[in-house]
Amino acid sequence: MRRGLPQDGGLIDKDKDPEMGKIDILGIVGSLRKDSYNRALLKAAQELAPDGAVLSLIELHGIPVFNQDDEMAPPATVLEFKRRVLAADAILFATPEYNYSVPGALKNAIDWASRPYGKSAWLGKPAAVMGASTGSLGTVRAQYHLRQILVAQNMPVVSQPEVMLSNAEKRFDRSGRLTDEPARELIQALLSALLLLVKNNPIGKSQAA
Ligand SMILES: Cc1cc2nc3c(=O)[nH]c(=O)nc-3n(C[C@H](O)[C@H](O)[C@H](O)COP(=O)(O)O)c2cc1C
Repeated sequence: MRRGLPQDGGLIDKDKDPEMGKIDILGIVGSLRKDSYNRALLKAAQELAPDGAVLSLIELHGIPVFNQDDEMAPPATVLEFKRRVLAADAILFATPEYNYSVPGALKNAIDWASRPYGKSAWLGKPAAVMGASTGSLGTVRAQYHLRQILVAQNMPVVSQPEVMLSNAEKRFDRSGRLTDEPARELIQALLSALLLLVKNNPIGKSQAA
């Protein structure tokens, strides 16, 4: 929710901002690939976001490999990534499956934003998970690994619905629009469940900030 609190640096003019009061969801694009199905899935989620929410996307390009020697003085890309996570009311992960798990780039970004110890941006942040793969199991194994990682950050995560898009190459048109109607309905249900989790979450942004 863009509450005009210090997270926005006092820069939001509440009278002029029509998005004020909406729940801010940050969609994390778990793939770096130009024509990523997971990015396209998040774009579908942007179209399908309910009235009370705004979904913005963040990419993982330019985030270097985590080195604990640098965690007290992270590079600018990491600081910006962490700032966006902290400012969000909720997170929507879209993850590919690489060798039965999450891509290294996504795990790496999660690790950066979890540090230094005691200053994690993820702590208590409500989240939802979805994913698309060209395989027949639609990221099920990656999503369960991701859920395990989020336990370490004490993040409340939507349990159901599970959005696991298999054979992704058949479910988007040439422009990258998700054409699979049941999948669109599932995404809508996932977003509604995430909003409910945010509304019922007593910790959320204040704990993370
Ligand atoms: C290194 C690598 C490992 C992969 N492993 C899996 C896998 O375990 N399961 C699966 O369903 N797809 C696997 N794939 C195929 C991905 O599902 C496919 O590349 C998908 O398009 C990646 O998501 P994106 O389109 O968002 O980049 C793998 C692809 C790569 C590059």
